[in-house]
Amino acid sequence: MTFPEQRPRRLRRTAAMRRMVAETRLCVDDLVAPLFVREGISDPVPIPSLPGVVQHSRSSLRNEVAELRDVGIPAVILFGIPEHKDAVGSESWSPDGVIQVALRDLRDDLGDDMVFLADLCVDEYTDHGHCGVIADDGTVDNDATLELYQRVAVAQAEAGADVCAPSGMMDGQVAAIRSALDASGYDQVSILAYAAKYASSLYGPFRDAVDVEIVDGGDRRGYQQDPPNVREAMSEIRADLTEGADIVMVKPALAYLDIVARARDQFDVPLAAYHVSGEYAMIEAAAANGWLDGDAVAMEHLLAIKRAGADFILTYLARRAAVLIGS
Ligand code: PBG
Repeated sequence: MTFPEQRPRRLRRTAAMRRMVAETRLCVDDLVAPLFVREGISDPVPIPSLPGVVQHSRSSLRNEVAELRDVGIPAVILFGIPEHKDAVGSESWSPDGVIQVALRDLRDDLGDDMVFLADLCVDEYTDHGHCGVIADDGTVDNDATLELYQRVAVAQAEAGADVCAPSGMMDGQVAAIRSALDASGYDQVSILAYAAKYASSLYGPFRDAVDVEIVDGGDRRGYQQDPPNVREAMSEIRADLTEGADIVMVKPALAYLDIVARARDQFDVPLAAYHVSGEYAMIEAAAANGWLDGDAVAMEHLLAIKRAGADFILTYLARRAAVLIGS
């Protein structure tokens, strides 16, 4: 059979035509807003390396989340900055810890109108900045850390989290958290696993946002994934699903779209991607210099992440994108 000559430009002629034939659509439901809440402040504090993003006070967080709800964002993920850090990050599981207080506030304000995710890690709470307990040899002790994560999970669930999102990349963390949640009666709390989380240089601004500096110029290469590896990401995801993860995530997003696409092909579960702080900061910096159109690039990047196969995106652009989509 012969086809008539292809003239694809016919379908690109008008904006309405392009909309009709679009294969991928970004909508407000795809966006999850990461938010920072800092204990002991009364006014929000700007984060210089993340223009437009702030460390919230208890009350400014409540206002922000209500406004996000009003523009249609379905979910937020919370990160806490405690007043006091210690060697094990005990404020991360204290019933009065900054995230637990915030979760209770938001649940009171908004009930089930939004999904509340809680990042589950201890790095914001430890005085050395690592994601777990430090062993005598200076490495992060995997199994001792799992016990801490179990406490954090139960504290977050008790405070009203819908989803715990373990981000520390300890082996066995999903199974440990699942069993702790189930044993405490929180079998309805879901787990979003940061399953394929790379040891990336794109998290720099985030560490400013949460006042984390890793001790002795250290890094997370001993527990986060090595950027050259793709098969390893698939086996990390498989392991997390076997352990009981409900949702899996790839992080960062843009430099790892091959991982997103491969994961979408191989696994039939909800797939998230995290457009991280460095990805956001690059757009802001270039836009501030007038070097590119920040809004346009932002939307193009988010669309690309969806096109690669993510079901939803954690992004500091959430609010702006929601407004742009709505207008
Ligand atoms: C760990 C955590 C980090 C991010 C999310 N959860 C930091 C890290 O692994 O160093 C980074 C997110 C971003 O850069 O936007 N609690």
